[in-house]
Amino acid sequence: MTDSLRLQGMKTAVGVLYERNRQRGTAAWCGHDYDFVCPSTGTYPFQWFWDSCFHTVALAHIDPVRARSEVRSLLRNAQPDGFVAHVTFWQREAYEEMLKTYSIAYRTPYLSDCIQPPVLAEAVAAAAGGAGGGAFLAEVLPRVRLYFDWLQRVRDPDGDGLIATLQPDESGLDHTPKYDEYLGITGTALSDYTAAWDRVAGPYAEVARDPPRMFALDRFVVEDVLVNTIYGENQRVLGDLLERVGDAKGAAEMRRRSAATTAALVAKCFDRERGLFFDLAGAAEKHLAVNTVSCLLPIVLPDLPAFAVDALVGHLTDAREYAAPFPVPSVAMDEPSFVPGVVGTKLVWRGPVWMNTNWYISRGLRRHGKVDLARHIEDRSAALVEQSGFREYYDPLTGEGHGASEFSWTALALDMLARREGDAASPAAPFPP
Ligand code: GLC
Repeated sequence: MTDSLRLQGMKTAVGVLYERNRQRGTAAWCGHDYDFVCPSTGTYPFQWFWDSCFHTVALAHIDPVRARSEVRSLLRNAQPDGFVAHVTFWQREAYEEMLKTYSIAYRTPYLSDCIQPPVLAEAVAAAAGGAGGGAFLAEVLPRVRLYFDWLQRVRDPDGDGLIATLQPDESGLDHTPKYDEYLGITGTALSDYTAAWDRVAGPYAEVARDPPRMFALDRFVVEDVLVNTIYGENQRVLGDLLERVGDAKGAAEMRRRSAATTAALVAKCFDRERGLFFDLAGAAEKHLAVNTVSCLLPIVLPDLPAFAVDALVGHLTDAREYAAPFPVPSVAMDEPSFVPGVVGTKLVWRGPVWMNTNWYISRGLRRHGKVDLARHIEDRSAALVEQSGFREYYDPLTGEGHGASEFSWTALALDMLARREGDAASPAAPFPP
């Protein structure tokens, strides 16, 4: 199949998927209309923060009007202080039974009280292409800026340029083995994780989930590499967007913050001996030294020093660790905790491949001139969808699909195929151009 036929096929499939997972209506609890793509109608019918940002990137290829509605719906319930919830329960009344199975902290009955990786500026950039882009930016950027100011003010109390997550699901990597030891988890039953989550969330409830007091408890404070890579990248992208609307001062400030985030990742998280980036845990900032996909994410940062780029490429091309038949596994294959398929019931991020991390890593590789490796990951990623459909995650050894079916952010494969369009004319073309 030619590349352009392949791209066309993927576009059509994403169109069908996004029609199926579209949620539209008016919410009586806030009086607002909503129009967004849910992650999966079977298990995740609400609007999730980073999912929605990824959906926006895919929507920009098939329906730019809906890409903007997705962002508007996400920002509709932004709080006056800047906070945006990791889940908006637009239609919660229809799913009370399902909610009983969630471990979640609520700010209101309709908004969760936690964050997810801040992919927001990238989503806005994707939605701002084409006619009316300037007006769209003028409309949404004030709330986006407030959100990034909130992250810096509330989640970076030590002012080192790295924001902290306060519970495991804030990284979006819910059951990743990198937290096992820190959380005191020894088994792989869902109940082990629920109990660990309660050990963190219980004391938080006692301090009324007030962020300074949550930090003071020091139960779960993680300066997470994946979250901060995305934070750094999105501050940089926000800087570009602010410049586009004529806010030179705001642009300079966001670029300064972005550079500080990269510098802190390199200075504090990079283990030179192992050539990997590790999260910092607790007030003592101890490395969580487990080799997971999160350790590789800084490849996304354009200002990453060459020695770190080379180290990460070494891990990505090592067949014992990440160079699986279907890369990139979420845990290095030589880690004792690695499981290629389903672990127990509903444990996620313990080995299988996810499309969003592949999207980031392949983009990072392009930025650092590693186009062949990027193309390989893009090709294998699209092959997963072509063989097994839009699943939540995949076995890196066989390509078999697992978890939710018709899972929406897997449509990022479309953006990965679209990127390749420019390669023939200029094989080393960086992305974005
Ligand atoms: C799972 C994932 C999380 C995602 C959510 C909705 O909890 O770990 O990252 O946002 O599902 O898809």
